[in-house]
Amino acid sequence: MSDTSYRAVWDRRSADDLAALEAVDNSGSEVVAQATGQRAANAIAEALALSPEDVILELGCGAARIGRELVGRCKQYVGTDISPNMIRVAGRRLAGHNNVRLEVLERTDLSMIADESIDKAYSVAVLCHMDKEDLFLYLSEFARILKPGGLAYVETWNLADPVGWERWMYEVNFWKRSDHSERKDVARNQFCVAEEFQLYAERAGLDVLTCFRDSPWLQLVVGRDLDAAGRAAHRLRLAEQRSAIAYTPMFGQLFLDCIRVIYGDLHPLTALAKLESLSEFPEARLYHTHIQGLWEQDPDRYGPPPENQVNPA
Ligand SMILES: C[S@@+](CC[C@H](N)C(=O)[O-])C[C@H]1O[C@@H](n2cnc3c(N)ncnc32)[C@H](O)[C@@H]1O
Repeated sequence: MSDTSYRAVWDRRSADDLAALEAVDNSGSEVVAQATGQRAANAIAEALALSPEDVILELGCGAARIGRELVGRCKQYVGTDISPNMIRVAGRRLAGHNNVRLEVLERTDLSMIADESIDKAYSVAVLCHMDKEDLFLYLSEFARILKPGGLAYVETWNLADPVGWERWMYEVNFWKRSDHSERKDVARNQFCVAEEFQLYAERAGLDVLTCFRDSPWLQLVVGRDLDAAGRAAHRLRLAEQRSAIAYTPMFGQLFLDCIRVIYGDLHPLTALAKLESLSEFPEARLYHTHIQGLWEQDPDRYGPPPENQVNPA
């Protein structure tokens, strides 16, 4: 019988620290989690104009892959998650920081967080793992907990992007082969188009500042109760910082290779050879670390990884 709640799924996937890392970025590796976490944290810090005075909240913090990279750059980090196991792993990975508050969520709300108490909020790889009703409820909670003038950054899958569509077809084909007498996985990947994602945010009471959409991910930056001048200033800032925030087309293409390796459609040797030819690009260096990590964890499928594999970075 499949898991029937978000908590059951994510608790099962995070029984120990390495399993939790595998659940958050498919890697199961501290090295990879730190590399991908740093990239995400830098983009979020730019998107939110993060300041050391900010109280920040992460919805679905998981193993604090991103939180660990931001905790030293803010006044307080509030990590929230539906899975008690994930929160335990996050607590271990954030040990030593005295500005951390962690909260296990009981349902789709942030009721333990006071109204207008958060400067900046974000969520990565979370809203894509729930029903749209829950996505909307969480955005409504962001509108409640953000201070006037506060900002939030949220991501989900972009169905309108060619790589986003290919990623979705993996879900379709998986379901084609699955047992149709059971309900679909409650935490499966769900997809949006930009207009739909923005509509949820607007109806939740948030001001849409921008939605980057040229990659498999929709990256939405929103504000709470901004006046016209504030909205214009943030839109200008986000346009100027776009290259530091938005995923590049190369990032999306290399992501597809990574997915093909994960699903067994591409041998990591082929993927690594391509990445070595692109080693001057930071995206290629990041995926090199990632694919090497995937290979090291799955020698049964791909054979032993070559010795002396060196990241071209
Ligand atoms: C793929 S992981 C991403 C974790 C983290 N945001 C990151 O990028 O490393 C998804 C996380 O969302 C949490 N999650 C899933 N459904 C949730 C829900 N309905 N409410 C709150 N958290 C949820 C899971 O427990 C898990 O930690």
